[in-house]
Amino acid sequence: MSRRRRNDPAQYDDLAGEWWRPRGAFAALHWLAAARGALVPPAERPGAVLVDLGCGAGLLAPHVAGKGYHHVGVDLGAPALAEAARHGVTAVRGDVLSVPLADGCADVVSAGEILEHVADLPKAVAEACRLLRPGGLLVIDTIAATAVGRFLMVTVAERVPGGPPPGIHDPALFVDRAVLVRECAAHGVNLRLRGIGPHLTDVVRWLAGRTDHVRMRPTASTATLFQAVGRRR
Ligand SMILES: C[S@@+](CC[C@H](N)C(=O)[O-])C[C@H]1O[C@@H](n2cnc3c(N)ncnc32)[C@H](O)[C@@H]1O
Repeated sequence: MSRRRRNDPAQYDDLAGEWWRPRGAFAALHWLAAARGALVPPAERPGAVLVDLGCGAGLLAPHVAGKGYHHVGVDLGAPALAEAARHGVTAVRGDVLSVPLADGCADVVSAGEILEHVADLPKAVAEACRLLRPGGLLVIDTIAATAVGRFLMVTVAERVPGGPPPGIHDPALFVDRAVLVRECAAHGVNLRLRGIGPHLTDVVRWLAGRTDHVRMRPTASTATLFQAVGRRR
């Protein structure tokens, strides 16, 4: 357990050397980034921009490379941004609650594993939607504010290999799906949600050291980990 308070972003600075280790503290973020990248279509125009909110060390980069976007990442953490820049991301230091980028600048906004870290969900959603041009795509993955979400993602996952670093999440910030859908709709984005979880056979192979990658699969419920996508009207 980190000596820092739960959800303190400085934990990412402490763990900066772990970002790109496929079997390191952020292993599951690699699996989620691959699943998120699969939701991003090829760019529809030259010069298209993908804004990656809470980009960390740019783990999404290999999964959108070649799709025709200029990949811009926004994060609080300087060490993570330096890593992201090494992976081809244009790094912008800033808060997702007050993003230093222009209205309508993005063809795609990615908010991967960030909404469960912010104290003001409506403000984060407003910022994500503000950045999108009309017709632009919002891609989200996050953790649901449910009893099962808190149990599986904190009580269980923090104790198993491949799970999040202990203390990285404050379960009080997990995302109320109804609020997320409502706030996005208020900003012109109608979201579709689907639950996701790891392929259990891949997890067994990963634990046995026989693979470095675990595929994510759709699940019947959105009550734990879920993805959401929608286009801005
Ligand atoms: C769980 S990591 C996700 C990183 C990346 N999206 C990925 O999936 O690999 C959360 C990231 O959000 C950043 N973060 C947390 N709160 C933030 C805020 N208010 N503004 C900008 N970045 C923030 C952290 O520094 C960290 O890099």
